[in-house]
Amino acid sequence: MAKDKFKISFCEATAAAFKSLYADKYENAGDVQIFSSNFIYENLEKPKDPSMGRFALPVFRFGKLLEDKPPSIAAKVAPESNKFLSSSQNGPAIVIIEAAGGFLNARPNAELAASSTIEAVLAAGKDYGNSTVGQQRKILIEYSSPNIAKPFGVGHLRSTMIGNSLRKIFKALDYDTMGINFLGDWGTQFGKMIVAYRKWGSEDTLKNNSAQNLLELYVKFHETAKEDSSLDDDAREAFKKLEQGEKSEVELWEKFKNISRTEFDRIYKMLGVEFDWVTSESFLNDKMAAAIESLEKAGLTSISESALIVDIDDPQLPPVLLRKADGATLYATRDVAGLFYRWQEYKFYQSLYVVGSAQSDYFKQLFKLIELKEKAESLSDNDRMSGKVKHIEFGWVKFGDKAMSTRQGNIVILEDVIDKAAELAKKRIKEKNPKLKTIEETSRIIGTGAVIFSQLSVRRQKDVRFDWDQVLNFEGETGPYLQYTHARLCSLLRNYDGKVTTDIDFALLAGNEESRVIDLLADFPDTVEDAARDYDPFYIAAMLLKLAGAFNRFYQRKNAQGKIDRILSDNKELSAARIALVKSVQLVINKGLYLLGLEAPQEM
Ligand code: ARG
Repeated sequence: MAKDKFKISFCEATAAAFKSLYADKYENAGDVQIFSSNFIYENLEKPKDPSMGRFALPVFRFGKLLEDKPPSIAAKVAPESNKFLSSSQNGPAIVIIEAAGGFLNARPNAELAASSTIEAVLAAGKDYGNSTVGQQRKILIEYSSPNIAKPFGVGHLRSTMIGNSLRKIFKALDYDTMGINFLGDWGTQFGKMIVAYRKWGSEDTLKNNSAQNLLELYVKFHETAKEDSSLDDDAREAFKKLEQGEKSEVELWEKFKNISRTEFDRIYKMLGVEFDWVTSESFLNDKMAAAIESLEKAGLTSISESALIVDIDDPQLPPVLLRKADGATLYATRDVAGLFYRWQEYKFYQSLYVVGSAQSDYFKQLFKLIELKEKAESLSDNDRMSGKVKHIEFGWVKFGDKAMSTRQGNIVILEDVIDKAAELAKKRIKEKNPKLKTIEETSRIIGTGAVIFSQLSVRRQKDVRFDWDQVLNFEGETGPYLQYTHARLCSLLRNYDGKVTTDIDFALLAGNEESRVIDLLADFPDTVEDAARDYDPFYIAAMLLKLAGAFNRFYQRKNAQGKIDRILSDNKELSAARIALVKSVQLVINKGLYLLGLEAPQEM
């Protein structure tokens, strides 16, 4: 846990205050460790209204133990804590504690907060927000995982961006992090592709713009199969041959795979997405038999209507189907084999599957199956992967704007989305800064930034409503807004002719606007940990929006004469202090954008 010295002082003083006021309740505290400063630290919250303070302790849950009403507890503890604070230090109080209803609100001394925060940010530079909590423990994160021979749709985009960001976040916290792409390259759809190719395709189909041609085959198969069900029988037959390793089927399958891989790699490059291990369903083909055998040994399998199943003993969930009556294995069979494989190979601390909530029940089934097996084998906690495997689910991506062109069927193609975003970004940049030299490159950065940010700026469990006007609004809660703020900060730094140092008068940064910015900068390390704890980059996205907003209010603040109070002026001392704050904000926005997977332009 990243520790904030203001919070520590608050917690120590408050724990001491509780002890002195409620000494008689000390014995009965049990697991409510209100007399311990660590416990208080864990229970700190952020006040709804930031003007109330930077952090707060709600005292409601201690009413019973202390046999007192929450507002009365807060009213007694606040002055007592302030006493402890002032007796433990010389000079100005490091935090000021106030009672408000059932809360103890705390506000760091503005000048001390400015110096300690800005010094910490500038000393750490790019590493600000990093920590060592992970202690090199192994975390596997599976994300993206599109299906070969199908288009990369916006459905896979959200998984890709959440996973890519989590990989960076966990790395920053010193976890030994492994990003995995698990491609869907096995299953009956390849029988369909083979049949479609033989019916309507030719060598040329695999040559020019071939991913698009594969998609056309895929769509045509489904359209035709609606009328003629014999096609589905042919597809099953072709897949069977593929499973048996028949040469001509395997060759075609390899070709489809290569075409899709090239296409996906292009998309990942465009999005700046990275993996440490690209694997696929077919990698597990030769590992399924052993997996099934171990489940049989554990006494978990049974035969139902000639199929091999595991009844997972849960009224809400159907059994896991491992082998169909005709001997064919399934998606779940490969996933089970993959679970065993990853556990054996990596003995992970955690293994995450970033997959949409449509597959929630499916992952519940898989994890229940693992739990039953490990119970049956009476493994020790250390040897169990149960509890270490997690489904990181997320909501749907919905297109509000129906005008979005889809070249085929109703699949929204990611590349179309990014192209259109870049085109719109270019228009805006041309209006704002027609002289910009790097206009092509910058509009790409802004366009992809807009698309990526739209996926991360709502809590992961919620649906994303993708709306063109919203995602590209330079003034809205968007990626481009953050990128634009970053460019503005860089331009201020370019225009400052001195060196940025912390050898400044921090009292010049004690104003309300500055304090709000500083509070948010100080919160950044905890925000990164919050994002890791809930596996949700949203925390960082939300904090950056607040930070950019707070900075822009500082930037646009007017003085008593109603004129903009410029950051850089003839007042050397004031400019030097303000530019240190500007540099700190630039570093944090840059780092935050990096953790989300967005590029931060210097100019736009
Ligand atoms: N390829 C699958 C799909 O597109 C997602 C795979 C998710 N990961 C897994 N281990 N099942 O639906």
